[in-house]
Amino acid sequence: MPLPKAELHLHIEGTLEPELAFALADRNGVVLPYAGTEELRGAYSFSDLQSFLDLYYALMAVLRTEDDFADLADAYLARAAEQGVRHAEIFFDPQAHTARGVPIGVVVDGLTRALGRSEERYGVSTQLIMCFLRDESAGSALETFEAARPYFDRIAGIGLDSAEVGNPPAKFREVYRRAAEAGLRRVAHAGEEGPAAYVTEALDVLGVERIDHGLRCLEDGELVARLVREQVPLTLCPLSNVRLRCVDTLADHPLREMLDAGLLVTVNSDDPAYFGGYVDDNFRAVQQALALEPETVRLLAANSFRASFIDDDRKAELLAEVAAFTFPPVEF
Ligand code: ADE
Ligand code: ZN
Repeated sequence: MPLPKAELHLHIEGTLEPELAFALADRNGVVLPYAGTEELRGAYSFSDLQSFLDLYYALMAVLRTEDDFADLADAYLARAAEQGVRHAEIFFDPQAHTARGVPIGVVVDGLTRALGRSEERYGVSTQLIMCFLRDESAGSALETFEAARPYFDRIAGIGLDSAEVGNPPAKFREVYRRAAEAGLRRVAHAGEEGPAAYVTEALDVLGVERIDHGLRCLEDGELVARLVREQVPLTLCPLSNVRLRCVDTLADHPLREMLDAGLLVTVNSDDPAYFGGYVDDNFRAVQQALALEPETVRLLAANSFRASFIDDDRKAELLAEVAAFTFPPVEF
């Protein structure tokens, strides 16, 4: 059994595997511009974030009904459980669906149908985080936020994703203010492709509790010192960073230096269907590429629970499971 862990940076739409994409396309009469799953997989070669986002949004055309969203989430939760995930905080992009005429209620009802039975079926507790597309307008984010109000009992928090450069956090000040007023948790992508200043702005202007990615914080020593002092969690996604060319190779990933600096970093999969692995695959990949000691890997798993939004009792239980975990002997 893999090391128990939480996954805190996972876009549910990014778990759409080619096989499921074709099955849903058939079910919904959608024609995909690829001959089959192998040809589609062959298109997964990205030069930057935008080149990935173009394909990611295009493929969402197959997601139309409540069943589609439930099947998508079920498939992820089953795989996550196999990867040792005990708790998942799951992003979704409502605007990417409402823009295609799929009502937000269809999306939330479908996803929460799967999430609602996840503890019983897979032993994975879940929370749902609604992300706003930062390359859409602030007005669109506000409209989406208000359309989601009837579902706030099933939405734990809000996030900010999509094309980062040129879309600074401050653009979304008002929607984050309303989210805080409504008692929702707040996170945001920052410092993936965008500058360290976006990380600072997300903290100061949006009041976020966690930074998604945050890689480029390393370019600002004062910011690093603050993130260490305040123990602001950073949800790193190593395989994503390689595939989207934020780092050249996994061996160049700054995860170890970030840990050594005292940053509260976690390891996550981002969009696992597109980036070559789920969360335990990310753990194994960094363990190997950076020669991480078992105790460092254990620290990453413990950090994932520390940085999560689960209640203190369950957090203590899961941290005890991490502490008690025995690593299998190394195979040569
Ligand atoms: N949406 C899905 N994956 C993303 C990522 N890595 N960065 C920004 N937006 C995203
Ligand atoms: Zn992401």
